[in-house]
Amino acid sequence: MGKIIAIANQKGGVGKTTTTINLGSALAHFGKKVLLIDLDEQANATIGLGFSQELLDYTSYDLLVSDLEARELIYHTQDRNLDIIPGSERLINLAIDLFKIDNKELILQIKLNLLKKNYDYILIDCAPSLGIALENALFAADSVIIPVECEYFAYEALPLMINKIHQVQTFKNKKNQKLTIEGVLLTKLDNRNIFGYKIIDKVKDLLPTKTFKTIISRSSHLQEAPMQGKSVLKTAFHSRSSREYRELAQEILENNNI
Ligand SMILES: Nc1ncnc2c1ncn2[C@@H]1O[C@H](COP(=O)(O)OP(=O)(O)OP(=O)(O)O)[C@@H](O)[C@H]1O
Ligand SMILES: [Mg+2]
Repeated sequence: MGKIIAIANQKGGVGKTTTTINLGSALAHFGKKVLLIDLDEQANATIGLGFSQELLDYTSYDLLVSDLEARELIYHTQDRNLDIIPGSERLINLAIDLFKIDNKELILQIKLNLLKKNYDYILIDCAPSLGIALENALFAADSVIIPVECEYFAYEALPLMINKIHQVQTFKNKKNQKLTIEGVLLTKLDNRNIFGYKIIDKVKDLLPTKTFKTIISRSSHLQEAPMQGKSVLKTAFHSRSSREYRELAQEILENNNI
């Protein structure tokens, strides 16, 4: 049975999508069967893996608003162990379109139940928001990776995300008690800037057992790879970024035994 991990932070631009693509690719590199679900109307994970939105018949929007099964919405990427349910700008209307639906937070959980057995890991790339798409991701997930950029405002935003996770763990009769924090992932570290290291210390003080040992450095390789529609493991396997995402994958594999 696969593990569902939401990659979430309501703060924008902290490396959620970069982590979804490259961690997914790294887990696939280690032989794991991986599904990415792009739950963001910006569809950056979809575009970053080389898909052109106009050519997609179905997306994660259909997963949440139609009767289609998750398995009918899957696209294969160039990597044979890595599949994706793409994102769509139609997700902008999700809150309105689901307005009258009962238990709308639980749609994704129900849809993924059948699919879990087909994958080792399902990674959900969330939008920078605390809305209904994020709630669906958190109710479906077993754990959350919270990417935090090594800068002050990103650190300040962290308690809000942790509160949201706590709400889902304890939410009236619909709680998802199994939800855990897989880890906080520090990203975009500029190793010439001493301030980034201060943020690392502050995050480790706040969540000592929940901060990944792996830290993702700032690198142009990670900005260039999506232009080629590939992960950094495919565009620059021997780069530091590729190594760091492989180390993150190994850390997760060791923690989970899947
Ligand atoms: N380690 C890194 N080094 C350099 N640039 C990075 C790194 N991680 C991400 N970026 C760049 O920072 C920008 C934001 O990254 P990304 O899209 O992964 O963040 P996000 O949290 O998904 O953003 P959003 O909240 O808009 O969905 C992108 O241009 C990306 O290429
Ligand atoms: Mg993103």
